[in-house]
Amino acid sequence: MNDAQPSLHRLTVVDIDAVSALARVVWQATYPPLISQAQIDAMLADRYAPARVREQLDDPGHAWWVARQDPALAGFAHAIRDETGCKLDKLYVHPAQQRRGIGAALVRAVEDWARRQQARHLWLQVNRGNTQAIRAYEKYGFQIVASRVFDTGNGFVMDDHVMERVL
Ligand SMILES: CC(C)(COP(=O)(O)OP(=O)(O)OC[C@H]1O[C@@H](n2cnc3c(N)ncnc32)[C@H](O)[C@@H]1OP(=O)(O)O)[C@@H](O)C(=O)NCCC(=O)NCCS
Repeated sequence: MNDAQPSLHRLTVVDIDAVSALARVVWQATYPPLISQAQIDAMLADRYAPARVREQLDDPGHAWWVARQDPALAGFAHAIRDETGCKLDKLYVHPAQQRRGIGAALVRAVEDWARRQQARHLWLQVNRGNTQAIRAYEKYGFQIVASRVFDTGNGFVMDDHVMERVL
């Protein structure tokens, strides 16, 4: 049941810190059963470093969105254009706001952007143990196309499914 009506916007510099803080909240609610705290800390520091996100905001090959819910940040998404498609690199919704259609609304925004980039498919990586996200992605039309271990740097790996959907 979609009882939330989030407003979706492209991320701007003023919300970078709020996105990093929300990422920490969602990661701590999601990943402790799946990866170590050291890996969570290292990946958050790497992927949400304000300077890195700021650079991505200036890069037309990257796009970030935030979803607001009265008026707090409820979720965000990040997509990256690649050679033949687009990678949905991040999709996170606050634990208290999950399962209200916010993830679906963010994915629709990503799909629209990817189509405008002439991408033919959208793909992503998801931890093989992240059943909730895998179910959500299946609901959004993605299918598992591969499963493998990815080196994420600093001596850490992710045991992921690769999922894909045609646009
Ligand atoms: C995965 C995620 C982004 C989905 O966003 P969401 O706003 O909660 O999802 P939606 O409301 O769009 O629901 C889509 C579908 O996902 C599935 N789903 C979502 N949460 C679920 C849960 N707790 N249990 C089972 N299925 C669930 C359902 O099929 C749902 O459809 P339904 O409610 O009509 O049955 C969100 O749950 C999340 O942030 N999870 C933690 C972070 C994460 O794992 N991100 C993905 C990293 S790769």
